[in-house]
Amino acid sequence: MPNIIQNLAVFVSGTGSNFKAMIEAGVPVALLLADRPCDALQFAKEKGIPAILLERKEFGTSFNRGAYTARILETLREYRIDLVAMAGFMTILDVSLFETYEGGILNTHPSLLPLFKGDHAVRDALRAGVIETGCTIHIATPKLDDGPILAQKSVPVLPGDTVETLHERIKEVERALYPAVLKEILSGVRTLPSH
Ligand code: GRF
Repeated sequence: MPNIIQNLAVFVSGTGSNFKAMIEAGVPVALLLADRPCDALQFAKEKGIPAILLERKEFGTSFNRGAYTARILETLREYRIDLVAMAGFMTILDVSLFETYEGGILNTHPSLLPLFKGDHAVRDALRAGVIETGCTIHIATPKLDDGPILAQKSVPVLPGDTVETLHERIKEVERALYPAVLKEILSGVRTLPSH
């Protein structure tokens, strides 16, 4: 990985509110990549940011993860990407991505990792009856919701919270924390461990 990080790609699958927050905070995004149609694609186009839809459903009924990841790597090369920020990206990618971009793939997860890994982090925190949960920005590795933690912020669980209300309160925090961490990395204020 190069020492100076210049070109950031953001990977999304859903609402893309974290991606929108990055743009609104002035984070320079060189490429938006989505694995399914979603609002973020339109938003990127409106902002003049290159946006690519690489539909996972086009990669076979049993999903050819290796071929899909290879296509992603080709696209990242084409756009000279040197840092990836996953923001609600729902496809697990092959190890080849993590080897090529070792230490350069970031993720945000809606819990205080290592607590509540997986797709149901907010539900699991509620069910566990914790009084606080939060979000974690971390370096992604082939192991899901693992890897060195870059930043964490806690969020209280309030009486009457549902998965939706709690997740939205967590996302408000993510939308401030993730752009701040990215800005530090892109400006060189923060150095990633492997750079
Ligand atoms: C975030 O809470 C993120 O932690 C999780 O998915 C959510 C994405 O939200 N992995 P959005 O699509 O950015 O609104």
